[in-house]
Amino acid sequence: MPNENQEKKASSMNFLALSNDSTAKTFIMAILVCLVCAIFVSVSAVALKPLQILNKELDKKKNILQVAGLYQEGTDIEAAFSKIEIKLIDLATGEYTTELDAAKYDDRKAARDPALNVKIPKAKDLGNIRMRPKVMPVYQVKDGDKVIQLILPVNGYGLWSTLYGFLAVEADGQTIVGLSYYEHAETPGLGGEVDNPKWKKLWSGKKVYDTDGNVAIEVVKGSVVRGSRGEEYKVDGLAGATLTSRGVSNMLQYWMGEEGYQKYLTKIQANGV
Ligand SMILES: Cc1cc2nc3c(=O)[nH]c(=O)nc-3n(C[C@H](O)[C@H](O)[C@H](O)COP(=O)(O)O)c2cc1C
Repeated sequence: MPNENQEKKASSMNFLALSNDSTAKTFIMAILVCLVCAIFVSVSAVALKPLQILNKELDKKKNILQVAGLYQEGTDIEAAFSKIEIKLIDLATGEYTTELDAAKYDDRKAARDPALNVKIPKAKDLGNIRMRPKVMPVYQVKDGDKVIQLILPVNGYGLWSTLYGFLAVEADGQTIVGLSYYEHAETPGLGGEVDNPKWKKLWSGKKVYDTDGNVAIEVVKGSVVRGSRGEEYKVDGLAGATLTSRGVSNMLQYWMGEEGYQKYLTKIQANGV
């Protein structure tokens, strides 16, 4: 009588003895290859997850530094980022809050968390984002003890996607330093031109609020006429991408308005940072 081990050996020998053209052997081989590949992919995905999170975090920091004009090729991101202090603002009051940990706070996660978000009334939802966090981070760029820039996260819908980025303003809460997006899926060459350095340069020095305190900054259709009235609030539109351009204007109307950072920025204008 053959024992259990001998039976197993015989069945694997049977499989190897099958002709390479046999349907059973082809199927078994295909399943084995799939299994090995699936295990390899799963192990890689799990093992690389912490590295992916770290790289995402580093990329976000790089974008914050870029919009603040503090990043050139080769800049040590962590060292440069040490000049930036993260604070949390309660958007309803415009006051700083310490109820949550600023270093760990993720505004994009908070926007999906019913305990941390608010639903935006349809009529006010200019960025078409439906929910926003109650609390938002502000990245304060410092020169010694003095805050010289405020970097504010913004997001809103373009034509195909939600664009996520940062608007950097001077400590006056009014003069724009730059606008930069770190994530979107607009069409390269059309809406994707939001990433074009030439277009991004146009934002520097523009003003957010008019003399009545209304959000006046906008992307116009076509080019801004040099020397025209209100030039300081206007940025050239993206050629062939009016819908993305409108999305940019709308999200800035929203985030720099009453629902967004305006209460905070008004306080800063009155009392300093
Ligand atoms: C394949 C394809 C991709 C497009 N991608 C964009 C886009 O990313 N952003 C955008 O505003 N318009 C995009 N458009 C163009 C819009 O449909 C629309 O025509 C345009 O925004 C109008 O802008 P204009 O008045 O400056 O021509 C795309 C069109 C096509 C056919």
